[in-house]
Amino acid sequence: MTVVDVVSADAAAAAETTAAVQQQPAGNNGQTVCVTGAAGYIASWLVKLLLEKGYTVKGTVRNPGMHTDYIHADTHHTYTPYTNHDDPKNAHLKALDGAAERLILCKADLLDYDAICRAVQGCQGVFHTASPVTDDPEQMVEPAVRGTEYVISAAAESGTVRRVVFTSSIGAVTMDPNRGPDVVVDESCWSDLDFCKKTRNWYCYGKAVAEQAAWDAARHRGVDLVVVNPVLVVGPLLQATVNASIAHILKYLDGSARTFANAVQAYVDVRDVAAAHLAVFESAAASGRHLCAERVLHREDVVRILAKLFPEYPVPTRCSDEKNPRKQPYKFSNQKLRDLGLEFRPVSQSLYDTVKSLQEKGHLPVLGEETPEAEKEQTPGAEVQQGGIAIRA
Ligand SMILES: NC(=O)c1ccc[n+]([C@@H]2O[C@H](COP(=O)([O-])OP(=O)(O)OC[C@H]3O[C@@H](n4cnc5c(N)ncnc54)[C@H](OP(=O)(O)O)[C@@H]3O)[C@@H](O)[C@H]2O)c1
Repeated sequence: MTVVDVVSADAAAAAETTAAVQQQPAGNNGQTVCVTGAAGYIASWLVKLLLEKGYTVKGTVRNPGMHTDYIHADTHHTYTPYTNHDDPKNAHLKALDGAAERLILCKADLLDYDAICRAVQGCQGVFHTASPVTDDPEQMVEPAVRGTEYVISAAAESGTVRRVVFTSSIGAVTMDPNRGPDVVVDESCWSDLDFCKKTRNWYCYGKAVAEQAAWDAARHRGVDLVVVNPVLVVGPLLQATVNASIAHILKYLDGSARTFANAVQAYVDVRDVAAAHLAVFESAAASGRHLCAERVLHREDVVRILAKLFPEYPVPTRCSDEKNPRKQPYKFSNQKLRDLGLEFRPVSQSLYDTVKSLQEKGHLPVLGEETPEAEKEQTPGAEVQQGGIAIRA
């Protein structure tokens, strides 16, 4: 069997999608869920988890491949069909266990309402993870906000969706210059939109407005919405390319960052983010927002962990800000997700797994002839000391 690529924009294709869903073997009580932006970093882990749990997954991508497009072929304004080949961006999805039987790739841009409706059709749940990840206001705000409204509308129109899970961000939570240093950041905190605008932080602005739009639309349309607000996500990659949060780590290893910033940031593992999405979908008691964070670190802590684990790379040792006092970490609560049974991997483990994954995918050279301590005669999964840090190899 092959993965079903559902792509054309016409009614025939919509019928094909329905037929394909109906033909899937019943998994997880026969539940079908839609994951938008399925080939992205977080979504890929979510698709993997959903397939492992027996769900049938309709994943939206912008170019599923192996579909018929039409090119403007001559001066008589006729259009010639041609076959668009597999997009290598989706190869990792097609290789997942269960993908051949239960993964359906659907072509959908966030600004194409009809395509989103087709993807959501026949689903019991929707995980809306697709979003631009950029600080360019033109590219960020409209797809993030309008795309989210479209997803909620499509869920309301479907008649089958029982819950929508929206991937928001810490960017919709912490950008508030008036928050006191002792405030514990939790689900009640919202970013200050004027501050986001003033500081030209269009990613955080777009995510905050998109999350507000999701809550408004869900209330208006009577859709059951739950939200996950991940902090900066690290951990192994399934996709072939480097996404923005992984680039944040890669720059400290490949020599492109000579210094580190005087800044703090919360981190969480991508596998735990995927697990959080599933937990809030499956738990009837889950409601509202869910802050998904393991730990807040200063950049100096990040580079120290990296340098201890991987001393062979040119990890920066100097802060770019030698004048101001060291920024202090904020306090936060991840209690809501813990109450749903989530256990967070320690960030040092996630950073270790990030680097190993970057090496395996060819984004980082494997330096030095010595086998790292962690790899010497270890049973997979056994805990070892690497640079004084306990790591599971
Ligand atoms: N990674 C983090 O640290 C982090 C932290 C908090 C929240 N988040 C949120 O988590 C979600 C996933 O992020 P990620 O880190 O996994 O990033 P990613 O790898 O860049 O994935 C983003 C996905 O969104 C898709 N997308 C972007 N614009 C689109 C559009 N106009 N129409 C359809 N699809 C579109 C992308 O498709 P293409 O591949 O075609 O571009 C990609 O599949 C986002 O909502 C992000 O805001 C991420």
